[in-house]
Amino acid sequence: MIVTKTSSFTAPKGVPDYVPPGSAEFVAVRDGLIHAARLAGYGHIELPVFEQTALFARGVGESTDVVSKEMWTFADRNGESFTLRPEGTAGVMRAVIQHGLDKSGQLPLKLCYAGPFFRYERPQAGRYRQLQQVGIEAIGVDDPALDAEVIAIADAGFRGLGLDGFRLEITSLGDETCRPQYRELLQEFLLGLPLDEETRRRAQINPLRVLDDKRPEVRELTANAPLMIDHLSESAETHFEQVLAHLDALGVPYVVNPRMVRGLDYYTKTTFEFVHDQLGAQSGIGGGGRYDGLMAELGGQPLSGIGFGIGVDRTVLALAAEGKAAADPARCQVYGIALGDAAKARLVALAGALRGAGISVDLAYGGRGMKGAMKGADRSGAKFTLVLGDRDLEENSIGVKEMATGEQRQVPLGEVVGVLRSALGH
Ligand code: HAM
Repeated sequence: MIVTKTSSFTAPKGVPDYVPPGSAEFVAVRDGLIHAARLAGYGHIELPVFEQTALFARGVGESTDVVSKEMWTFADRNGESFTLRPEGTAGVMRAVIQHGLDKSGQLPLKLCYAGPFFRYERPQAGRYRQLQQVGIEAIGVDDPALDAEVIAIADAGFRGLGLDGFRLEITSLGDETCRPQYRELLQEFLLGLPLDEETRRRAQINPLRVLDDKRPEVRELTANAPLMIDHLSESAETHFEQVLAHLDALGVPYVVNPRMVRGLDYYTKTTFEFVHDQLGAQSGIGGGGRYDGLMAELGGQPLSGIGFGIGVDRTVLALAAEGKAAADPARCQVYGIALGDAAKARLVALAGALRGAGISVDLAYGGRGMKGAMKGADRSGAKFTLVLGDRDLEENSIGVKEMATGEQRQVPLGEVVGVLRSALGH
């Protein structure tokens, strides 16, 4: 073990902490996105944050950046290789196969997850080495209406948070009947171009990825490259048209982007990305698609699947860029101040009763004076402040101050829970 003597510690580079008050925004965004999935019947799945390395190599694809450059891989004490999960879909499929979830109920099997994922990327604004996603997967039914449902859930999740400066880009990556021919066609085209050695090699291994090259000279060379969308099989084309028709009916706006390339190899047919205009280079706030061959590839039965992963960190940044907030900034609804020991004992008990009634309460601790305690009340964002002195206690009443108006009135101690409940709409 390496022990470094240091006087202070910091979180690893590119790994964010979520601390108050910003953490409230993070939780509101994550929960808002999960809520959108719950409304469509997706059940929760909680998976390990590390899996056997081979699962990701096989599932996500050896030639992807995610697998070849960005995995956090380590050997355990027995020398077995594990990797911190870079994404959620491969792990979900592993669990579905392992537990036979695809054989024990009605299809599609609908699953939703949230948590940290790990990619060894160069950290910058909106790009982290530990990132947070909310994801869903719908497994076992190849129906364009299901594709539209998955996409509409992401769209509704974003809009439910108040976000609107984004666009949905969508395309079809074809199926096993048309993709191999297209791949050959694209490869032939690319190998006829004056590309540098490394790019030529990429064209040989994974030609689609060359279309994602950001360098202007490569973009210019590939401007007239053949596109998958012009070479779809009849069934893939019909599937795509039906997805778009369902999106129209759902009122979900989209733009078709036939040059879209996703960073993971398992995609087939419908593929999509949500792009936000105000986030600079890291503009992808969510993405997903079909992965009809993945389950068989990982040793399961040949079932189709579709899902998405939404970047919670980037969605938080997008809301901030739009000047919007998803969370109520208040830390509590009621703040309590006691003046005197007996009053304090009574207020502590009252705080317990209020919390039991579903009201969030914080107290002024540490015997600060009235002025300091009122500052605490202001900072807490509470709607009501309770002031209890030993004299009030003798009279069996408590001061209730409404912070917005500054109005204060005495309320019998026995009634204060009921009074606050109705004032707060509980
Ligand atoms: P992905 O596009 O690789 O897809 O990631 C989904 C989202 O995670 C991205 O759109 C982005 O918002 C966020 N994200 C990715 N990398 C980072 C990073 N380094 N820092 C911050 N945010 C990041 C997947 O992971 C697929 N598993 C989605 C899926 C589910 N496809 C089908 N089912």
